[in-house]
Amino acid sequence: MKTLLIAGILAAGPLVLSAAAQPKSVTPFQQHAALFLMKCAKCHTIGGGRRVGPDLRGAVDRHPHDWLIGFIMDPDKYLDSDPVAKSLLADNDGVRMENTHLTREQVEGLLQFIKAASDAPLPAPRTQSEAPTEALAFKVRMPNEGMHPSIPGIVVLLLILALAAFLWQVGERRGSAVAVVLALAAAYWSFGGRRYYHLLGNEQGYSPRQPIAFSHALHAGTLQISCLYCHSGAQRSDVAGVPALNVCMNCHRSVHQLAGESGTSPEIAKVLAAWDGRDGPKARTIPWVRVHHLPDFVHFSHRVHVANNIQCQECHGPVQKMTQMRQAASLSMGWCIDCHREGPGAAPAHWKRVGGPLDCSACHW
Ligand code: HEC
Ligand code: HEC
Ligand code: HEC
Ligand code: HEC
Ligand code: HEC
Ligand code: HEC
Repeated sequence: MKTLLIAGILAAGPLVLSAAAQPKSVTPFQQHAALFLMKCAKCHTIGGGRRVGPDLRGAVDRHPHDWLIGFIMDPDKYLDSDPVAKSLLADNDGVRMENTHLTREQVEGLLQFIKAASDAPLPAPRTQSEAPTEALAFKVRMPNEGMHPSIPGIVVLLLILALAAFLWQVGERRGSAVAVVLALAAAYWSFGGRRYYHLLGNEQGYSPRQPIAFSHALHAGTLQISCLYCHSGAQRSDVAGVPALNVCMNCHRSVHQLAGESGTSPEIAKVLAAWDGRDGPKARTIPWVRVHHLPDFVHFSHRVHVANNIQCQECHGPVQKMTQMRQAASLSMGWCIDCHREGPGAAPAHWKRVGGPLDCSACHW
């Protein structure tokens, strides 16, 4: 019964959080689970593998009770002086556990929860709201994201080069020159040029340089931070929004350097500088360059699509592999309509409903 409850709670993170907002109807156990999701889940899972910090499955049995209480309540003190904590720090490439400013009572509760969740059968569900569908999302591909050299293109290239050589041999100098020009075009096309072939006004593939080299491949891929942790608006409003600096600082207050490197990373230094200057005379938010942009006469809402369980990657491509954000889909009217036409057979099974509106006034008003 208890394990079922845990599985349910872990899978339904947001429900727990909203339950926590109505204190009357929740048990202490649910409160501990909600506290874990709010304070610890961004860095730890219980049985879901490592995230920023170690997997906490069984952690309660790895250390004495008093050590755990002391460490969680004041990690900095332990990381500076305690030998066990120091060796953990070394194992985690110097990334420091954060002081979450909890009371002893709250930490006792968290340890109970971690113990109970460790006893749940494997594979334990992941702890973030979007997690149950994450594996699926990672498989989603955009059809036209051809990033690799095209094999047919290269074959054509070689044939044209052979033709050029032959024409040169038989003295057809002019014909040979034409073939060389054709070969150059084929080479451009085969090695990625086709990605930049657009209809007028089509911004597909647009990938501007950002003021800070923020990598989705690192944060959403390697560290597996849920998209909704940073783009929570996607669930409840029209716009997904770009996260405010304090979301970054949840981690970067303590994460200053890259794994295996010493000294502050120059890119993270920009984040810290913006944060330190937030109250100063030159305070301004990070000027992220907008990538996706529909014309003003089109109305698009994230909430409806995300609530229908359409994965971010179905519209944005393999974001978890992008070191620099780019627009993967065309965002043309045909693109919206093609998907809205998808019938029950053709649409993916994970959607709750199929078929979007086709009348003009649904998108233009
Ligand atoms: C900013 C990320 C971060 C947050 C937030 C965080 N931790 Fe940690 N935690 C770590 C890291 C990293 C380590 C490994 C030690 C180190 O390098 O500082 C760790 C270590 C631990 C350990 C020891 C694990 C072991 O395998 O021995 C426990 C227990 C722990 N954390 C519990 C918690 C709890 C409970 C919370 C929530 C109140 C929490 N942590 C929040 C990053 C974090
Ligand atoms: C750690 C926070 C964080 C996480 C996690 C994260 N993002 Fe982002 N996202 C950002 C920031 C910051 C930007 C703006 C900078 C940029 O475009 O790279 C951004 C930009 C974007 C944009 C482009 C916005 C525009 O200007 O049009 C899309 C699309 C996007 N994210 C989708 C995702 C998806 C899908 C996931 C999950 C796979 C995800 N993000 C996970 C922080 C995050
Ligand atoms: C849940 C924790 C977490 C959050 C939230 C987070 N980061 Fe990070 N970020 C990390 C970790 C951990 C690393 C270092 C990874 C490594 O060691 O390779 C990192 C690395 C970076 C780097 C260094 C990349 C490089 O190659 O130099 C930049 C820049 C960065 N983050 C920017 C941001 C920005 C901007 C935000 C807010 C939109 C953000 N991060 C939010 C955990 C986080
Ligand atoms: C049905 C397709 C679709 C899905 C699913 C989708 N997006 Fe978007 N996204 C768009 C379109 C279209 C835009 C451009 C909106 C505009 O310009 O008004 C956009 C814009 C964005 C932006 C830029 C800022 C903004 O709010 O307009 C971010 C960030 C973003 N999406 C993140 C996400 C994340 C995270 C998810 C998954 C939780 C997601 N999107 C799911 C189609 C989608
Ligand atoms: C990957 C498939 C997909 C793509 C791409 C897509 N949609 Fe949708 N859309 C849907 C589905 C499915 C529904 C029906 C949702 C429901 O019934 O809950 C829907 C519903 C809607 C609705 C009705 C709900 C509302 O907000 O009132 C509008 C408007 C809409 N989409 C606009 C757009 C626009 C504009 C685009 C292109 C920029 C777009 N959609 C791209 C699948 C998609
Ligand atoms: C599912 C959403 C959706 C529906 C339904 C829809 N449109 Fe569009 N429409 C779009 C989007 C998105 C664009 C912007 C395309 C771009 O920027 O390339 C657009 C652009 C346009 C344009 C500008 C010309 C162009 O191609 O860029 C016209 C005109 C137009 N739509 C007319 C209509 C008419 C008439 C209908 C009804 C038969 C209709 N639309 C139904 C989403 C929709």
